Amino acid sequence: VPKRTTVKALVESDGLTSIPSNYSYAMHPNESDASDPNDTIPTIDFSLLNSGDPHQRAKVIQDIDKACQEWGFFMLVNHGVPETLMKAVLVLDGCNEFFNLPMEEKMEFATKDIWKPIRFGTGVDIKVEKFFFWRDFIKVFTHPEFHFLSKPQGFSEVAQEYCKRCREVSMELLKGISESLGFEESYIEKAMNLKSGFQLFAANLYPPCPQPELAMGIPAHTDHGLLTLLIENGIGGLQIQHNGKWFHVNPLPNSFLVNTADHLEILSNGRYKSIMHRAVVNSQSTRISIAIPNGPSLDTMVSPAPELLDNESRSAVYIPMKYKDYMDLQLDGKPCLERVRLPVA
Ligand code: SIN
Ligand code: FE2
Repeated sequence: VPKRTTVKALVESDGLTSIPSNYSYAMHPNESDASDPNDTIPTIDFSLLNSGDPHQRAKVIQDIDKACQEWGFFMLVNHGVPETLMKAVLVLDGCNEFFNLPMEEKMEFATKDIWKPIRFGTGVDIKVEKFFFWRDFIKVFTHPEFHFLSKPQGFSEVAQEYCKRCREVSMELLKGISESLGFEESYIEKAMNLKSGFQLFAANLYPPCPQPELAMGIPAHTDHGLLTLLIENGIGGLQIQHNGKWFHVNPLPNSFLVNTADHLEILSNGRYKSIMHRAVVNSQSTRISIAIPNGPSLDTMVSPAPELLDNESRSAVYIPMKYKDYMDLQLDGKPCLERVRLPVA
């Protein structure tokens, strides 16, 4: 039985030149293997959604539709969330300070129960106990109720403000996405009960790794919820599936990386796919990322929008399921989406 330790503590122990064997995931190309160097993730200018010019709005909604269909990921610029707040949540009073707490204080929050509103985790993935991943994380439920941590000082205040701003951005985007799917702008808000929508703050720490090509930060997965907003401290490590290859993402400074998640795939009946992504690690620098998944309310039964279906060519390809029951599928090992996606004839 491996000793219970954080990845951070492991790295800080003296003379670590190779990774313990239980962290050895598989040989994998740590490099991007996307062949086309001209491929770039689409950039969406958030400010054009509400510039007051209907033509600009129509154009950016078209761009969002294209980005969601072709990539499932886009970079969001001019989103109005202050750079100082993004920096604060990542580094200053934020996540860095949390991960710097003494190990025992973090371990107080260690649990495998995904329904604990504050959960610290390290190494072990609940899905595949055999492997240890090269990351420590903290997850906090932030909506409909924000859960406060008493330590580190100032952390929760900054996180709360940040999550509020992320929620506003994602609500605006979901108005645009309602329209890109052919609905009126409040369609998703109503259908998914966003007033009590579930939001999570998930911060990841990836310490430098002596054998990055053998370790894995987060294995390939898709996100639950509707939209995830991701930021990181400029190190890089996120890879997304694009045209059958791993594409290495270099986000623009101060942008959000937005991805369409499982419940948008279900609601759109597959028009917008939830894209596989993973986080690789490096030997030089500590990487911090913060993912904010924004979802329906947990009680919402999510199914393909009936308006997008007809009796002939467009039948539902996903089984309706409550968001909270879907979350429980995570414990089962298999990718959740596969469990609700019907085989297409
Ligand atoms: C995630 O997929 O949850 C995080 C990915 C990253 O660290 O970039
Ligand atoms: Fe993710």
